[in-house]
Amino acid sequence: MISNQAIQLKLTIIAEELLERFQSRDATVGIIGLGYVGLPLALTAAQAGFSVLGFDINRSYVDRLNRGESYIKHIPSAPIASAVDRRHLEATNDFSRLGEPDAILICVPTPLTRHREPDLSYVKDTARAIAPYLRRGQLVVLESTTYPGTTDEVLKPILESTGLKSGKDFFLAYSPEREDPGNASFGTSTIPKVVGGDGPEALALANALYRQLVVETVPVSTAATAEAVKLTENIFRAVNIALVNELKVVYAAMGIDIWEVIDAAKTKPFGFMPFYPGPGLGGHCIPIDPFYLTWKAREYDITTRFIELAGQVNTHMPYYVVERLVEAVDRSGRPFSGSQVLVLGAAYKKNVDDMRESPSLKLMELIEARGARADYHDPHIPELPPTRQHGALTGRLSVPITPETLRRYDAVLIATDHDDVDYRLIVDHAKLVVDTRNVCAKAGIVDARIIKA
Ligand SMILES: NC(=O)c1ccc[n+]([C@@H]2O[C@H](COP(=O)([O-])OP(=O)(O)OC[C@H]3O[C@@H](n4cnc5c(N)ncnc54)[C@H](O)[C@@H]3O)[C@@H](O)[C@H]2O)c1
Repeated sequence: MISNQAIQLKLTIIAEELLERFQSRDATVGIIGLGYVGLPLALTAAQAGFSVLGFDINRSYVDRLNRGESYIKHIPSAPIASAVDRRHLEATNDFSRLGEPDAILICVPTPLTRHREPDLSYVKDTARAIAPYLRRGQLVVLESTTYPGTTDEVLKPILESTGLKSGKDFFLAYSPEREDPGNASFGTSTIPKVVGGDGPEALALANALYRQLVVETVPVSTAATAEAVKLTENIFRAVNIALVNELKVVYAAMGIDIWEVIDAAKTKPFGFMPFYPGPGLGGHCIPIDPFYLTWKAREYDITTRFIELAGQVNTHMPYYVVERLVEAVDRSGRPFSGSQVLVLGAAYKKNVDDMRESPSLKLMELIEARGARADYHDPHIPELPPTRQHGALTGRLSVPITPETLRRYDAVLIATDHDDVDYRLIVDHAKLVVDTRNVCAKAGIVDARIIKA
């Protein structure tokens, strides 16, 4: 890490001017990709007093944002409407306006391809969209999660194909996004931001901009280091979640409750950090990001065994959970084949409407593969949208939770622990509850019909 003092260097005139504009907040910030990451970032910059110009290829997002409407459940419309009214926030799909911003922050998706390799097509498309309008004195920052080397090896050549040079004419940096949608304790402005630049001036400029937006910046020596920081954080989570998932299986066989074990273990004031088991990994980050490093490591003839192993353990979890469910229904005297199961929660985590990579869809598919019918309830997702892998589930509607509907099902499988659900009502009226989140125990509900899995 580099101290903030250590990066006060003598800047060129062009960089000095940009720095002053960032420090006085008299600058236009362009944000490309206005999704789960880009929208809150745009709002944060607008609320800090910057003039924000958001770019997205999704016309509906652009129109709704300009009408002051949110399109993401946990982000309210009021602050968007207020920023739009004060002319601090505007969205467009006119990419010829990319010459206007002083800083361009890129927040586009970085998924895996069908062959589980990094899909940088969105990043490359964005770089190609910026290139024709790139001008001297602009700062470009990649925020999308990616493998070490992307900023330098993928983004920079496309931007430099214009004849402009990074570090001389324009400035290039990487700053990973640590947004945790739905987290009530931490939002964009209260999460420290790691920043790495392509050269000292790019670092100084990106650091100066983010210091206006977030509580603390953490400058590091290179863009690749900043890229590695983000992957390290998410690999740490993936591996630790796999570990507790494995322990859950072992302890369950021994009649020991993993959640009780973790709650007791976490009273140790040092050397232990709690992670919790679940029905499988979900979301845009933890199931995907680690494999960006796996792919890049192959270039160095290195196998990332921990990452692969964690992936295997976590991928197996929905199968394990459905096995426990089948056993429980069979033991209650009803054959699983032909039964009806209500999966509670379609989102990959609590209190959000994001279903990317959600294990709930895999669970529903596995349940139906065993001859039962799987419906779902989710207070945040009224209808299952189309997905690449689970097309057969598209268009299913969330079943309302009432005593009558609950009685219709042979089992309720709790996959997501949304707060906005009456767990007492469920336990009181369901024939059987399989709880993968320990949410019933947390709500103080004890009943012989609850099975933890
Ligand atoms: N969602 C999270 O919790 C989270 C947290 C940390 C980091 N990240 C990372 O941030 C990045 C963005 O993730 P997200 O969750 O915001 O994705 P998202 O899908 O919610 O949003 C991405 C947006 O980019 C737009 N887009 C795609 N291609 C574009 C292009 N060529 N030009 C302009 N806009 C384009 C899409 O229309 C969409 O609105 C990813 O790299 C992700 O790994 C996400």
